[in-house]
Amino acid sequence: MKRPVLAANWKMNNGPTAARTFMNTFLASYPPRADRTIIIFPPAVALTTVASATANREDVLAGIQNIHWAEKGAFTGEISAPMAKDAGARVVLIGHSERRHIFGETDAQCAKKCVASSRAKLAFMLCVGETIGEREAGETERVVTRQLREGLSQTANLISADLLIAYEPVWAIGTGLTASAGDASAIHTVLRSELCQMIGTKGDEIPILYGGSVNTENAAGLLAAPEVDGLLVGGASVEPASWLTIAQT
Ligand code: PGA
Repeated sequence: MKRPVLAANWKMNNGPTAARTFMNTFLASYPPRADRTIIIFPPAVALTTVASATANREDVLAGIQNIHWAEKGAFTGEISAPMAKDAGARVVLIGHSERRHIFGETDAQCAKKCVASSRAKLAFMLCVGETIGEREAGETERVVTRQLREGLSQTANLISADLLIAYEPVWAIGTGLTASAGDASAIHTVLRSELCQMIGTKGDEIPILYGGSVNTENAAGLLAAPEVDGLLVGGASVEPASWLTIAQT
């Protein structure tokens, strides 16, 4: 198995004060480990807090939950990839289902964000996942394949891009419903084969994370499933105690 990637998506939780307390607590109990990578995606206002707390840790990276594709300009409320990098981000989360479904983000916009991240020499994690309706209609593979291909379609130097994929079935996010390890493996296998069609053997190296109601109870089983190279965790990553357990899975 590849070196696992365990990623915490705090969403709109843990501002700078809470982020500082969290990082102090977490890092005090989590000494450096070479056998896994941890990524923390705080809200943008807490990015510098997390980045400075992890400045001397190669195994714990700060990330940003969203970027705009332009480098700068009249885009009130937005943050560019170079700015995120300047603030300490090492990874960009792109196309999270809440961005797609609450804020109407499209595959074409995700594609531009992938380009912007790679231009800024930031790693990026493209999220894909089907809704319950799509799943029940038997469209899961078609939907995730489209999101993957369209999301990556504009990134010219894909082979050298620092890329991660997260499969997050929309019906499993924040609902307490989790894909079975077998279901997750099956979709990860589809994604893996698409990646290999796109970029040859480099496709085998790209970590594919599972996300959707991961918790301290189910994390180990999911992580042990074939083709599951890591976990992207929302609710159970907001408090240091449960996150520590998952990070040590
Ligand atoms: P959840 O969120 O773990 O709370 O289901 C996962 C995610 O949206 O990344």
